[in-house]
Amino acid sequence: GSAFAQVAVTIDTAKPGPVIDKNVYGQFAEHLGTGIYEGMWVGPGSKIPNTKGWRNDVVGALKELRVPLVRWPGGCFADEYHWKDGIGPRSKRPVKVNTNWGNVTEDNAVGTHEFFDLAELLGSQVYINGNLGTGSVQEMSEWIEYMTSPSKSTLAEMRRKNGRDKPWKVDFFAVGNEMWGCGGNMNVEHYTNLYKNATTFLRAPKEYKPQFIASGSHTDDVKWSDVLTREVKNDMAGVSFHYYTIPTGKWEVKGAATGFPESQWFSTMQNTLKMDKFIRDNKVAMDKNDPEKKVGLFVDEWGTWYDVEPGTNAGFLYQQNSLRDAVVAALNFNIFHEHADRVRMTNIAQMVNVLQAMILTDKTRMVLTPTYHAYKMYVPFQDATSLPVSLENNTTYSAGSQSVPQVSASAARAKDGKVYLALVNTDPNKATEVTVNVGGAAAGKFAGQVLTSAKMDAHNTFEAPNAVKPAAYAAQAAGGKLTIQLPAKSVVVGSVE
Ligand code: AHR
Repeated sequence: GSAFAQVAVTIDTAKPGPVIDKNVYGQFAEHLGTGIYEGMWVGPGSKIPNTKGWRNDVVGALKELRVPLVRWPGGCFADEYHWKDGIGPRSKRPVKVNTNWGNVTEDNAVGTHEFFDLAELLGSQVYINGNLGTGSVQEMSEWIEYMTSPSKSTLAEMRRKNGRDKPWKVDFFAVGNEMWGCGGNMNVEHYTNLYKNATTFLRAPKEYKPQFIASGSHTDDVKWSDVLTREVKNDMAGVSFHYYTIPTGKWEVKGAATGFPESQWFSTMQNTLKMDKFIRDNKVAMDKNDPEKKVGLFVDEWGTWYDVEPGTNAGFLYQQNSLRDAVVAALNFNIFHEHADRVRMTNIAQMVNVLQAMILTDKTRMVLTPTYHAYKMYVPFQDATSLPVSLENNTTYSAGSQSVPQVSASAARAKDGKVYLALVNTDPNKATEVTVNVGGAAAGKFAGQVLTSAKMDAHNTFEAPNAVKPAAYAAQAAGGKLTIQLPAKSVVVGSVE
């Protein structure tokens, strides 16, 4: 007999759902702390091996994640960024102060051309966030002309002089960021008119033209997606939405990235699972205004936000990343898959050295975080077709009078034709067992990986870079039943047949 109550997972292959857009696995890179400078960009003259200034080690590791797109240059930084500061000979570019993030100098070494080099090295699409804060419609429209015009206009010729003949395809372009906050502290009615005004004039030839994104709201506020989808009828591929997971739920003291008590493991699980309700609430408003689902809900900032590592610059948002972060990432992926009809893009904050990062660097060294491993394990879900999953006898993980579901599950048919199953155990103390049925019968075998560790805050350091990493995991049916052992605090992903 089994020591555990078994949770039954049933995958319905007869009723495929929407495709999980690969852009759900998007990244975000802001001019913030060492997210770009040091972490990725070292410059072509650096002793650190690089290609066109971008670190080979970091780019190589990111390529394994098949990064579908990168959002740049912010964040709050975007609404004070003037693109003309970032073109031409690097030695002549103006030096500015990064007023949002630590008041450090910004020498504009990374600008438009460098960013497109990065996207090309990664093989990813680009998502450029425009400046509607200190910028103007004219400035945004000139930026788009500079990037996309095949003509002989002065701006197009300037692009050629700076080394790029062919226009670039700009995949996505956002009109401002967090306009309710750092983007200008405005209300949605005012912003809606500014958005319509801007998109009227952001012209580009069809083949290079970006899809436009409106800056939406955050956390439990649904008003922005409601008003925007009601009022804007054209040129809006998505409305953005931001939600950060903070262990304490309080911005003043957020909780530490490591060395936290179990109560903060629990509250982190509980807080991150709120993503599901926030998305649902936004969908209610959007379904009413846009029943054809033309507009996506783009969760273009999400992830854990902790107190910065002791002794680091408070404006750099540098934090360690533990097994808890990998579990958070996987729970959110499963939520995003469930809402694949609307959630057609997300961008975790942020790619390197900032908040819930994939990679941490220290001079010449780099380390892959548990979050990196979660992204890699989920690669088969990019552009896969979601499959309905039902969970029976799910147990709970409780703290006092509160509880969260112990098991989270998601399934999809990947482009390789196989059915993939992702399972998460939120309980840091108790293992569990899951039986799997696929297409009306017991599954025969499972092959994939498990990510777990003995400690809740297990993490990788430059001295011990492989403390947390996935291990192979396979299971065979026995007695007409396929059982997957799910260790405490774990993520398991693999193919099932
Ligand atoms: O990701 C860090 C910051 O969080 C972004 O710059 C901003 O948009 C959000 O408030």
